[in-house]
Amino acid sequence: MELVHTIAEVRARHDAARAAGRVVGLVPTMGFLHDGHRSLMIAAGAECGFVTVTIFVNPLQFGPNEDLDAYPRDLEGDLKLAEGAGVDLVFAPTVAEMYPDGAVATSVRVNGLADQLEGASRPGHFDGVATVVAKLFSIAGACRAYFGEKDYQQLQIVTRMARDLSIPVQVIGCPTIREPHGLARSSRNAYLDGVERQAAGVLKRALDAGVGAIDAGERATDAVEARMAEVIAGEPRAALDYARVVDASSLERRDVLHGTVRLLIAARVGAARLIDNVGAQAG
Ligand code: PAJ
Repeated sequence: MELVHTIAEVRARHDAARAAGRVVGLVPTMGFLHDGHRSLMIAAGAECGFVTVTIFVNPLQFGPNEDLDAYPRDLEGDLKLAEGAGVDLVFAPTVAEMYPDGAVATSVRVNGLADQLEGASRPGHFDGVATVVAKLFSIAGACRAYFGEKDYQQLQIVTRMARDLSIPVQVIGCPTIREPHGLARSSRNAYLDGVERQAAGVLKRALDAGVGAIDAGERATDAVEARMAEVIAGEPRAALDYARVVDASSLERRDVLHGTVRLLIAARVGAARLIDNVGAQAG
């Protein structure tokens, strides 16, 4: 496995891999890698002859009062995990390498998909995500790119962005990896102490309760969302931000559920703001 820090080195390695007939698999991350990230590397390795992981805590996608400075970092640990997962190349650029002019004048915005849910709670967040991912795709060149369903709205936005801009990258979604009590693996779980970590299992229990209501025949969106909120309210360490059921592809909320839907939740537990989601079929 090789570690590089410049855009030029990534381009050279990817050109060489493609010239040798290898498909490039790309796994964009912000580091502090865990089993969720690892599952993306394993999926990429199963389908691609050359796997690149990018590690970059992207300032553009953090709001002014968010955790950019506190965001956990551990390059040494990350390199060990990536090597163990069979990764060929790690790209860990500096902020100056990615944004040599400081602020970018060009921003990528995916209208519609970026406005609600996380977009409403974190204004500008998805513009920062879409912009850095467009850059990473441009640096990587033709490839397959692996993203987690854990960040379901991000996955939809990145997929749409690549299609809208005719970027030669196929975006592949991979299932959410969880701890045994249901908590989705996340770098931000590092903000939780032991008691909070257990309490944070409530997000998945709330999602499951919502799916249970749908499976039992409930079709009123309000009622399913209220059921999810009720479960969160039962955990004193958790404060709900939103609990929503939306169409799985447009992310639009309808009063009456039908077709393939997605249940999404965001809540604060201790110092961490956590998100999670699951899919369901509403007839
Ligand atoms: P980060 O939060 O590090 O996540 C990197 C990738 O890992 C994303 O595709 C995310 O959905 C996936 N992932 C995280 N936790 C997961 C889990 N428990 N199971 C499965 N996949 C999981 O998402 C970002 O970074 C950034 O926004 C990025 C796309 C890199 C742009 O800066």
